[in-house]
Amino acid sequence: MSAAVATISVALGNRSYDVLIGAGLMADAPALIEARLGKARCGIVTDANVARRQLAPLEASLKAAGRHAGTEVLAPGEATKSFASLARLCERLLEMGLERGDLVIALGGGVIGDLVGLAASLVRRGLRFVQMPTTLLAQVDSSVGGKTGINMAQGKNLVGTFHQPSLVLADTDSLATLPARELRAGYVEAAKYGLLADAAYFAWLEQNVSAVLERNAAALTHAIAVAVQGKADVVARDETETGDRMLLNLGHTFGHALEAWAGYSDRLLHGEAVAIGICLAFRLSEELGLVGNNSMARVETHFAGIGLPTRIADIAGGPPPDAATLLKIMGQDKKVRGGKLTLILARGIGEAFISRDVDPSAVLDFLARQAGR
Ligand SMILES: NC(=O)c1ccc[n+]([C@@H]2O[C@H](COP(=O)([O-])OP(=O)(O)OC[C@H]3O[C@@H](n4cnc5c(N)ncnc54)[C@H](O)[C@@H]3O)[C@@H](O)[C@H]2O)c1
Repeated sequence: MSAAVATISVALGNRSYDVLIGAGLMADAPALIEARLGKARCGIVTDANVARRQLAPLEASLKAAGRHAGTEVLAPGEATKSFASLARLCERLLEMGLERGDLVIALGGGVIGDLVGLAASLVRRGLRFVQMPTTLLAQVDSSVGGKTGINMAQGKNLVGTFHQPSLVLADTDSLATLPARELRAGYVEAAKYGLLADAAYFAWLEQNVSAVLERNAAALTHAIAVAVQGKADVVARDETETGDRMLLNLGHTFGHALEAWAGYSDRLLHGEAVAIGICLAFRLSEELGLVGNNSMARVETHFAGIGLPTRIADIAGGPPPDAATLLKIMGQDKKVRGGKLTLILARGIGEAFISRDVDPSAVLDFLARQAGR
């Protein structure tokens, strides 16, 4: 493993862009941006946690280059992905005088990336934006692929657009200050790529998980680069999720239901919900006779070994959800088409597929048994 910078290209015709992954990228941000996107003025948007730790050097280097248009610091947390914050942010971007051709930099985790992407897609009918993800979840997943969104009373991410970033700079050094629980939760989205389509990568993660979670730069760079390459390939084939991109939802239909039931709170982080969701998808696949060879046990051992929840009963802080409630929430998920549940199931590690033919009553029965465990 070398600690060199990895470059992944997301091939989307005239909206193609590079994802750079490695240590020390933040310090070079103005030059890296200029080399690819020209001498644009940049407005930075971040949250208060990230601002405290990572904002000053970026702001200083943009100011030194004469390209700083302004900085907006938002409250951290999922509640920031709201219509009210979107409206305020659009106003702030206009106040910064950003014009077509200028750039918005989203410096933060998936909350900042999703909100800033949406604002950038709307202001002046579309500003370019640069993702500078500072959580592992955002580096392996949400900063790439162009999905933007905010939450509504009816559910998460229900209002949004597809707006691809013009560049992604994933500096592994920025993960140094990320709480360990957030790092582990983000790791699940990396492991997901191995589990859905790349058995060799999952085997590599099994060998190298300690180095990744100890934030070794070379291990992180490799882990992030392979996951991003996996996502880039899927997004290039199916940008707007009409087919293959749905595979990326492995563990998410169950996971989103658990997250919604837990009230999107600290009780269960997104990645933790997805860890349980992936285990449920493999367990259901095993029950349906689709997957053999102990794949389920391997997945569960891997996640449990690093302290992630793998069962509904692992959700601390109160009684478990009942199956009917979970199924009802799953029925409201965006992955429902024509009243049928779309589940991502597996035939093995690295062999996920889209299934629309599992009977909802079988899923209810399965969840009732799982929730009781
Ligand atoms: N667009 C997509 O394709 C996509 C994919 C997956 C998830 N998401 C979205 O991403 C969001 C979750 O993202 P997240 O897990 O990054 O959450 P987040 O943005 O809320 O970040 C988690 C916490 O870590 C803090 N933080 C961020 N970087 C830090 C750092 N370097 N040091 C210290 N603290 C830091 C944040 O302030 C926050 O408190 C959800 O809203 C989800 O819907 C989007």
